[in-house]
Amino acid sequence: MVDLRTQWLGLALPTPIVVASSPLSDDLDALRLLERAGAGAVVMRSLFEEQLVEEQMAAHRYFDSHADGDAEARTMVPESHVFSLGPDAYLVNIRRARGALNIPVIGSLNGTSPGGWTELAGALEAAGADAIELNLYDLGTSLREDSSDVEARQLEVVRGVCAAVRVPVSVKLSPFYASLPFFVEKLRGAGARGVVLFNRFYQPDIDLDALEVVRHVRFSTHSELPLRLHGLALLSGRVDVELAASGGVHSGDDAVKCIVSGAHVVQLASVLLERGSEAMRAIVEGVRARLDAMGYDHVAHARGVLALDKAPDPHAWERLQYVRTLQGWRPRHGGKWR
Ligand SMILES: Cc1cc2nc3c(=O)[nH]c(=O)nc-3n(C[C@H](O)[C@H](O)[C@H](O)COP(=O)(O)O)c2cc1C
Repeated sequence: MVDLRTQWLGLALPTPIVVASSPLSDDLDALRLLERAGAGAVVMRSLFEEQLVEEQMAAHRYFDSHADGDAEARTMVPESHVFSLGPDAYLVNIRRARGALNIPVIGSLNGTSPGGWTELAGALEAAGADAIELNLYDLGTSLREDSSDVEARQLEVVRGVCAAVRVPVSVKLSPFYASLPFFVEKLRGAGARGVVLFNRFYQPDIDLDALEVVRHVRFSTHSELPLRLHGLALLSGRVDVELAASGGVHSGDDAVKCIVSGAHVVQLASVLLERGSEAMRAIVEGVRARLDAMGYDHVAHARGVLALDKAPDPHAWERLQYVRTLQGWRPRHGGKWR
């Protein structure tokens, strides 16, 4: 039977199927069920820069109002320790999860500006996080920042987080970079050991009756998978970082597609939120069955076999195939379009 044991960021995982960052991480019973169902690791939900900065501001406001500008009085108040305010509950959750599970527990930070908040990564590590996943969820809404400014700022955030911890750091990215391989190479230089492809943007919709912008969390579908497969295939074996897939994985075969495109691990959120821990079991078993049927004795041997650097037909991932695909379109069943 195929061996599913996997290394991710230097951590030993029993399987490559990982619980993605989501509210499931707040529920210890859910995490225990997922571990029993075959999860290889769990990523905690994110602690957001906005939360942390707000806590820092609150701490400063508190100290300012009590110390009243008097330098001596300031030395009487404790250090402006933001951890003891808002993020407390988060750190407690990490500590609890670390104590209850045998699989790695990965803390998650989400932010886009360099600054003191990145040092909080050290608090996540101290609470027991085995690694940090940094989500660069950056919507690029400014008219004054060009793409190189945005990327330079993001690299500084990555450097800040990497400098704050000894545990490995992975970076969760959006799909929207003009040159994904170049930026990932820069991330590696900034200290990232892995990248997670990709963030899913929660685009607002419009309610025309109310003429209002509305926001819903929509679960993913299989249709989101090909974008991930393409990103994985472009990077696998070409950039010295480990790769995680996130987005659109709903079956064992979806996960195997990610692995043969180059993923070390495959993360699940929507399918678990919708279908419960049984989905984890089904996907792990599905991966095992498919890799067995393909004749692999270790999951690592299947990794990246169809990536750009190894695929028998690398053009399948490149522009040439796009031209062929578009030009080769014909009406279904050879019929006439009407
Ligand atoms: C309800 C919900 C909450 C989420 N919260 C976070 C979060 O706090 N941090 C994060 O990095 N990703 C978060 N995600 C994104 C997931 O980790 C994942 O990247 C995304 O849903 C795509 O994977 P999927 O197709 O398996 O759902 C959340 C997703 C959902 C559905």
